[in-house]
Amino acid sequence: MMDALFWLQPADECDAAIARLHAEAPLDWFEEPLPENPYLQAGPGYWCVTRHADIATVSRNSEIYSSAQGITITDTPTEFLEFFSSMIAMDDPRHARLRRIVSKGFTPRMLGSLEDSVQNVAAAIVDEIAEKGECDFVTDVAAALPLKIVCDLMGVPDSAYEMVFANTNIILGIGDPEFAPEGVDFVTALLNAGADLAQLMGEVADEKKGGDGRDLTSVLVNAELEDDHLDQADLASFFVLLVVAGNETTRNAISWGLKYLTDNPDQRAVWAADFEGIAPTAVDEIVRLASPVTYMRRTATEDTVLAGQEISEGEKVAMFYLAANRDPEVFDDPYRFDVRRAPNPQYGFGGPGPHFCLGAHLARREITVMFRELFRKLPDIRAIEDPDPLQSPFIHGVKHMMAEFTPARTS
Ligand code: HEM
Repeated sequence: MMDALFWLQPADECDAAIARLHAEAPLDWFEEPLPENPYLQAGPGYWCVTRHADIATVSRNSEIYSSAQGITITDTPTEFLEFFSSMIAMDDPRHARLRRIVSKGFTPRMLGSLEDSVQNVAAAIVDEIAEKGECDFVTDVAAALPLKIVCDLMGVPDSAYEMVFANTNIILGIGDPEFAPEGVDFVTALLNAGADLAQLMGEVADEKKGGDGRDLTSVLVNAELEDDHLDQADLASFFVLLVVAGNETTRNAISWGLKYLTDNPDQRAVWAADFEGIAPTAVDEIVRLASPVTYMRRTATEDTVLAGQEISEGEKVAMFYLAANRDPEVFDDPYRFDVRRAPNPQYGFGGPGPHFCLGAHLARREITVMFRELFRKLPDIRAIEDPDPLQSPFIHGVKHMMAEFTPARTS
């Protein structure tokens, strides 16, 4: 089911495949695709959970459904796991400790101080393309904002953006030929990308030590309490998690958002008529349909039963968020894009459990601010081609999508 080629099918065939899953048994067993890379092995298979209610059960019961064996269906070599995944691939109490410490970067006060940055960056991005009349919406608009915001959050200098961007693409786009670096094998490419990001973080941390910066790195390296410190390795892998978790996801939500607005002019008109009033529901509706993180895996720590299905200790369980976000038991007309949908208990940011997206609030801000700028300055912007899909089972991603608009003067 969840192989890298799934999203290369026409959109209506993807929808039909998901609708079939909902019509079948609550849990389906799938073989794991043979990884193209000889370093990785195909595992024994996995349970695919598609129902909203069952995903809530798995998310909540993290003692039974562990994250520590990996969060993707294909097993990642253990030496990679912690380095690339930080707390998202840990269980409590280690997860809880790390989450408590880094949550300092996500308090209303910290997010408030990023607010201007989000606004200024979004405005500059739109100004940069405004006179051109067309752009690659993914690379020119959607990708630029979240990257800059994560770097600002961590106090990473402007000069490092390009390097951070290229390495993130390698880590998450590893299955896609476009992002496979030439001349090196998969493992080396992944390790190099991680090592470059870790080295950068080490340099930033050294520079911030003893200073009075307000960025998250300064807060973490200068914490007064011993228990609030992150060592260099924890800091590096947290940074890797943030750039990956915070960039690709938000980029794809913004890209799919433009596609949905293009395909649904009636919904676009509704939002345009009352931008601030509709924004909260419109943004959640974009995240619901886009579901940028297709699934998260857990591993059963004991024999258990889910929705009547016996699951054995050690078996993999994939929470297919994108399917839960189209569960006909929960969402009326689930394939329809409805900017006023309420209630909208979407699981795009994860189910109700300890790993619920730490950046959900920030992501919602970024998406809102970007569309506000676009509606204001380029009101007729629209996608003029189908999204070029990322070949990834894990990320519901768009690599490129050309957009057109009436050129606007920036000053
Ligand atoms: C539309 C944008 C985003 C989407 C769809 C998204 C989605 C997710 C999902 C599905 C999870 C896993 C939830 C689980 O396993 O239960 C997650 C975790 C996480 N996200 Fe996001 N995310 C987004 C933006 C961000 C941003 C902007 C940041 C930070 C700058 C961020 C940081 C994190 C972190 C640190 C975790 C790990 C939390 C933990 O393990 O406790 N995310 N996100």
